[in-house]
This record gives sequence, structure tokens and C-alpha cells, in this order.
Amino acid sequence: MNTVKKRILSGITPSGDGSLHIGNYLGAVRQFVELSKNNECFLFVADIHALTTIQRKDELRANIETLILNELALLGDLSNIIFFRQSDVPMHTELQTILNNITPLGLIKRAHAYKDKLEKGVEEEEVNMGLFSYPVLMAADILMYKPDLVPVGRDQKQHIEITRDIAERFNRTFKSKIFPLPEPYIPEEAAVIMGTDGKRKMSKSLGNFISIFEDEAVIKKQVMSTYTDPTRKHVTDPGHIEGNMVFNYLDFFTEKEEVMMYKEKYRQGKVADVEVKNYLFESLMKYFAPARMRYEELKNSPDSVKKIIQTGAERAREVAEKTINEVRATIGLTNKYSF
Ligand code: TYM
Repeated sequence: MNTVKKRILSGITPSGDGSLHIGNYLGAVRQFVELSKNNECFLFVADIHALTTIQRKDELRANIETLILNELALLGDLSNIIFFRQSDVPMHTELQTILNNITPLGLIKRAHAYKDKLEKGVEEEEVNMGLFSYPVLMAADILMYKPDLVPVGRDQKQHIEITRDIAERFNRTFKSKIFPLPEPYIPEEAAVIMGTDGKRKMSKSLGNFISIFEDEAVIKKQVMSTYTDPTRKHVTDPGHIEGNMVFNYLDFFTEKEEVMMYKEKYRQGKVADVEVKNYLFESLMKYFAPARMRYEELKNSPDSVKKIIQTGAERAREVAEKTINEVRATIGLTNKYSF
């Protein structure tokens, strides 16, 4: 068996209210947890990225705290994971500033996040520079750790492509080989998790999500409002599985044989929507039970969380310092008076 360890890196922004939904889990965190079993992993809270949209201090603070607990609870075993906050490693922004100089405006103008804003009617003059240069900060986040793989959902794919482009330009401009080109890691079946409305990508801002750490009653409500088969009026009507979000989620969270049985019954009109939804709710509760328990434990032990964050920051800084020193030397900032 091939045991060469790869370096894995990913980040999550504490946007919305900072909590994670099953789209984040299936799209990114699950792959990260799987990869962390045999590889060296870096996972960070992209708190500086959140400033592009969150500019109320209490909100940002609460979001960061929530996301830290959510992520740690889902990760569980941290033995191969360096978990840290982006703002604890100031080299990210130094590298961003350096990379800004080799990044053409045109490349960033084509970025989705920026284009989406314009399409939503936001005036170009109103877009803040943080949002505009977001892909460059993300490139710095990634290149700093020279990862092999970056597990993310498909919505981040373009950002990884921009990162590769920036890395190539840097290497070419400075005739160096400092930055290896990172690969996105996006398994097809979880590339885009659709929302409970069955129409758009699951996202906090669209309100079409299923939470992981909310109270059971809230999650139950989210499950009960999930889109199924609009053509089915009575329990005895044969139902459709394709495009039915309840079955879509069940495929991820239940035993294959059991869900096959439910699918068969549904097709034959032998099981009610509410029964299948209850089954999904129970399955989610079972699947996430260990993480939900860890979440409560972590919430009640702020000192141990602080310790994890502190250790993570120290270890991430060590790697970041090495990279930034290499970069400084490569571009000519290091000279005979450097110390
Ligand atoms: P963020 O915080 O929006 O999302 C976190 C991760 O969840 C994935 N995701 C989804 N995947 C599939 N289906 C969905 N419906 C879905 N919704 C969210 C996202 O693709 C992402 O992987 N810019 C990043 C954070 C970041 C980062 C980085 C990631 C900053 N620097 C460096 C990797 C490497 C973001 O805002 O993700």
C-alpha cells in the first residue's frame, strides 16, 4: 500500500451565523476528515475573509466562536490536523500583498464572487477591495502551506484554478519553483449539495439548509420542509426518487440496503412522505450524534478549545514563516543587511 503522506489544506469562512450545514459537511469537511486519517492536514477558520461581508464586531466574534466549535466537533480526532485561525498567522496577508503584484486585474475580474455581486446589482464602485481581492488572499492561504490537495465544494473550484494561475506566474516571474500547483479535491457525488428547496445549491444565505448542531426541533422542521415529489398527491400515488431531496440526502447518511427498501416502497406508493422524512431525521440524528456530543463538551470547556487554537497557531506559523522567508529571498527583499 502506498503510504506517502500528502499535505491537505482547507478553510471555511465564518459567514452567515458561523454554523455549518450538511452541504458544508458533505462538500468539504467529510473529505477532509477522511483524508486526515493518513495525511498531514491543515484546516483553518478563514476569519479575515469574513470581513468582506461582516463588519459588525459582535457578529464576527460570535461567528468565529461558533465555527470553531462546529469544526472541532466534526473533526473529532485531531492527531494529524493542524487547526488554526487565519488571523493568528499574519503571514497570510503579507503573502497576499506580495501576490497582488503578479496578479493581473483581468484574472480577478473574472472571479465568480465578484461577478455575482455585479450581477446582483451591486455597483462596481460599491464592491469593497477585500471582496475583490478575495481570490488573492485565498491563493496566499493555500500556497503558504504548499498542499497537494485542497478538498472543497465545486463553488470553490475557480478559486483553486486562480491559485494555480498565480503560483505559475510567481514561479515564472521569479524563476523559482517555490510553489507547487495545488489540486482541488472534489468528489463528483458531493461537488454541489442541493438545498432543501431542490432548486439551488444549499447555502445559508438562501435559507435552504439543514443544520448539524441546532436543536432537534429546528432540524426536524428543516427536514420536514424538504422538497420531495410535487406530482405526488396521495400516499398511494407512485413517487419519484430522482430530484427528490429527501432521498438525495438519505443516500449519504444511511445504509444502502435500507434506503433501497424505502425507495422501492416510495416508487410503489407504499410509504408516506412524512415517514421518509422521519427516517431522514432519525438518520441524521444518529449520524451526527458523536459530533453533537463533542460539540456540547467543547462548548463547556473553553480552555481546552483555546489550547487547541493556540497550538494550531504556533504550528501553522512555523510553516508560514518558512514559506514567507523563502518568498522574501526569492523576490529580493532579503539583502546583506537583513537579519
Ligand atoms: P465556504 O465557507 O463558503 O464553504 C466551506 C466549504 O463548504 C463547501 N460548500 C459546499 N459544498 C457542496 N455543496 C454545497 N451546497 C456547499 N456549500 C458550501 C465549500 O465549497 C467550501 O469547501 N473561500 C472559502 C474558504 C477559504 C478556503 C481557503 C478554502 C478561504 N481560504 C483556502 C480552501 C482553501 C469559502 O468561503 O468557503
